[in-house]
Amino acid sequence: MNSVEGDATGSDGPDRDVVDAPTKRGGSAAAISHHYDLSNEFYTLWLDQTLTYSCALWNEGDDPDDLTAAQLRKLDFHLAASAADRGRRILDIGCGWGSLLRRAVSQTRIEQATGLTLSEAQFRHIDAWQDGRVRVLKESWIDHAPAAKYDSIVSIGALEHFASPGDRPGEKIALYREFLSKCRSWLAPGGAMSLQTIAYGTMRSNENNAFISTQIFPDSELPQAHEILEAASGVFEVTLLRNDRTQYGRTCDLWYRALHRRRDEAVEIVGEQKVRQYEAYLRMSAFGFHTGRVGLLRLAMVPVLGS
Ligand SMILES: C[S@@+](CC[C@H](N)C(=O)[O-])C[C@H]1O[C@@H](n2cnc3c(N)ncnc32)[C@H](O)[C@@H]1O
Repeated sequence: MNSVEGDATGSDGPDRDVVDAPTKRGGSAAAISHHYDLSNEFYTLWLDQTLTYSCALWNEGDDPDDLTAAQLRKLDFHLAASAADRGRRILDIGCGWGSLLRRAVSQTRIEQATGLTLSEAQFRHIDAWQDGRVRVLKESWIDHAPAAKYDSIVSIGALEHFASPGDRPGEKIALYREFLSKCRSWLAPGGAMSLQTIAYGTMRSNENNAFISTQIFPDSELPQAHEILEAASGVFEVTLLRNDRTQYGRTCDLWYRALHRRRDEAVEIVGEQKVRQYEAYLRMSAFGFHTGRVGLLRLAMVPVLGS
């Protein structure tokens, strides 16, 4: 996840090692490692039991505290939106700790689920399952060259990492278009794609919070909704677009409460300063979503015929 809001915490300045690391077009491996390779044990303390690290999905009347049920509902939403129930092969770009891959092979007729991540810790976590139906690659989408087409493509919470701070709108749109065009070219006839990403809401990119953009999510840049739509134009038809920002606020609130409950263990694993940083980041993110400064977009897309 990646969002920005609020004031700096009691940290001791930007992490120069990461800020100065060379960026890679389409996403920086060093920046991904900085966040996601922190410690699987740490993330296990406060994410839900599926280790899903993105906005959950509640329906009206659901138990607001049941994060696992809401995460599974979100995974099922994306599986349905990407037509996974009709296909055999699915690609998850930015697969995290593999919750969607596992859900796809256990709950649909998908026979082969492929995940891409730039995190070594996430790669090892999934690889250790030794499940012949699940394949994980430590590879960026920009280098991915599948031998066969996919019936279904999902990407949840990864697009936030593709552009770099300072990229101009035209550069971001070109990069997102390259991403979507690759996805389009990897889809078999009848295939579909589902995308979820944080996006700027009322906040502008020059209002980015320095603490979040250097110490929590270095070298990442959120999209604007219109940039994604422009990038998709002529490549994908957007059949559904929803902004579920308050659901991300609720997800962050629950993550914060879980981290608070397990605080002593968390300090044992990553230290007091890191825990304080994560508490601040989760509080700031919740505030950003609840107030609309940042949004949470879910898009269902089908290829434009003939593109
Ligand atoms: C916030 S996590 C979301 C994980 C998962 N989709 C979920 O919902 O639990 C972002 C993921 O995007 C991946 N990612 C970021 N940039 C990437 C890139 N250029 N290529 C492949 N994966 C990338 C990270 O490695 C991480 O697994």
